[in-house]
Amino acid sequence: MRTPAIVLNFKTYPEILGKKGWDLAKRFASVADDTGASIVLAPPTADLARTAKLVHIPVFGQHVDAVEPGQTTGWTPPEALLEAGAAGTLINHSERKVAWEEMAIVIPRCRALGLEVIACADDLAEAETLAKLSPEYIAIEPPELIGGDVSVTTAKPEVVSGAVARIQTANPKVTVLCGAGVRTRKDVAKALELGTSGVLLASGVIRAKDPEKALRDLVKGLR
Ligand code: G3P
Repeated sequence: MRTPAIVLNFKTYPEILGKKGWDLAKRFASVADDTGASIVLAPPTADLARTAKLVHIPVFGQHVDAVEPGQTTGWTPPEALLEAGAAGTLINHSERKVAWEEMAIVIPRCRALGLEVIACADDLAEAETLAKLSPEYIAIEPPELIGGDVSVTTAKPEVVSGAVARIQTANPKVTVLCGAGVRTRKDVAKALELGTSGVLLASGVIRAKDPEKALRDLVKGLR
């Protein structure tokens, strides 16, 4: 993905399931067209293939499993994301944590397949440890601020700048994003000011009265 970027995690909010999400995805893609902003969509796995077919901006998975394709009913190996049209995936989101051992297996496999990985970290210690696995991106997201009205860039700027510093020391190849409570262009601008290359967000757009309008405001923070 091109940075600075806005990564939109659809989660499984009722507002984005099925056709509602497909229609929103097309509107979000038109925001990218109109503004030239780098926008990445992460719909639920059930809607990923359809969404990837409908839009020309990058579509990421919300999760990936460290299993081989084969007798693995109900799991999502990286090959399945790739075949569905994904350009990358989130992993270890605080709402879908993954064991370190699994990430140590699946992150290199994603890299070998050309799938970019955004590994989520709850705190500085986890961010520093994850950097050793060389995901392309690490998103620092304090769980207690997720879904809230106060952006991590306002509530805990030291955690964001601290993550940038510690990740870059541990592995300068990793690009840092932040998330939790990001809602406005000011939050996005602050995230860049603190040294990140973008934001990961959900409710500020997905649950907004006018999601497209909310996204159009946010992308102004990327400039
Ligand atoms: O992955 C993004 C997410 O956890 C942040 O959620 O609703 O605080 O933007 P939200």
